Amino acid sequence: MKPFLPFTRPSIDAESIAAVGEVLRSGQLASGPKVQAFEGALAEYLGGNRQVRVMTSATAGLEMALEVAGIGPDDEVIVPAMSFAASANVVARLRAKPVFVDIDLDTRNINLDRVPAAITAKTRAIMPVHFAGLPVDMDALYGLAADHGLRVVEDAAHAIGSRVADRPIGSFGDLVVFSFHPNKNMTSIEGGAISTGDALAAELFEQYRFHGIKRNAAGEVDVMFPGAKSNLTDIAAQVGIDQLRRLDGFNLRRRELAGRYFEEFEGYSGVVMPARGDAGHSWHMFQVLIDFQARGMTRPAFQKIMADRGIGIGVHYPSIPSLKYYRDLGYRDEDTPVAARVGRETVTLPLFPAMQDEDVTRVCRELRDVLK
Ligand SMILES: Cc1ncc(COP(=O)(O)O)c(C=O)c1O
Repeated sequence: MKPFLPFTRPSIDAESIAAVGEVLRSGQLASGPKVQAFEGALAEYLGGNRQVRVMTSATAGLEMALEVAGIGPDDEVIVPAMSFAASANVVARLRAKPVFVDIDLDTRNINLDRVPAAITAKTRAIMPVHFAGLPVDMDALYGLAADHGLRVVEDAAHAIGSRVADRPIGSFGDLVVFSFHPNKNMTSIEGGAISTGDALAAELFEQYRFHGIKRNAAGEVDVMFPGAKSNLTDIAAQVGIDQLRRLDGFNLRRRELAGRYFEEFEGYSGVVMPARGDAGHSWHMFQVLIDFQARGMTRPAFQKIMADRGIGIGVHYPSIPSLKYYRDLGYRDEDTPVAARVGRETVTLPLFPAMQDEDVTRVCRELRDVLK
């Protein structure tokens, strides 16, 4: 039997492993020169006119971005109903209220047409997700934010390397947060980054990620507020530096593989395909919808059969209002029906840069056979 094909796998090369060995031998393991170099490389990748600060995760980054944007108790933040739970959890952790807006079935991004109806006197920010690496309509998004005086915290966890008319996500915009979790298009093992055009915000992020510490003019430590402990290590930063160097190549390969999926599924009606996007789509994930209910099959059963045939199938994600914490708060999945449907029917097919074209053919062949 062919080796098991997971739905994703990071590509770490020998050069990167050797570089990590050098960092380990250097004695400088926590945040030091590699963190600075990683931030510099990210800022350069994003065009050179942004401040970038890294931290231990996108979750930590989103939370500090919201705090720096002034979000607190009783404020409302607009969040798509289809995303990873972290997108709403960070709002809830600040005792603010996530207000879920439904998504578009084709793009699986927040349906911006539905945002105005969700805005109240308490709305302070909108937090779109560039779902699976497909950018939201940035003109419409920032137009809405300007019209209603809202801050924008872009949850760009899926979108490092995504572009809008050749401008990288994070090279413009308010507060843009990336994830470098190992499933993402590039990794620093765990890790995240915030891109902002605001130097003062960047200074605050440095304090938020490390105990609220600021050094005074004499170089003495002072604590400005009870900050978090979410500074990245130099080891993680070294992995990130090597991955960033390879990112555009990774994303090119992801786009080719996504193109193969479209070819293989041409004319097949058993799945609902994702939007194709354009060359700016970084294809963090390739997801199709399957009407399991109509087929009298459960999704876990489908995953099990595919796993038995050597193919890993992911689920990203159940809709956020369907999760216990949010159900218990009174949110109803039915209020955002497209996200609810996607949450029930979505499956993530294998897609990562080291995959071969034949792997895509094999996934599609097995999937069609299982659904026959
Ligand atoms: C849309 C979205 N936002 C935020 C996160 C959190 O990222 P991290 O694991 O880096 O905290 C994820 C992680 O999968 C995500 O998919």
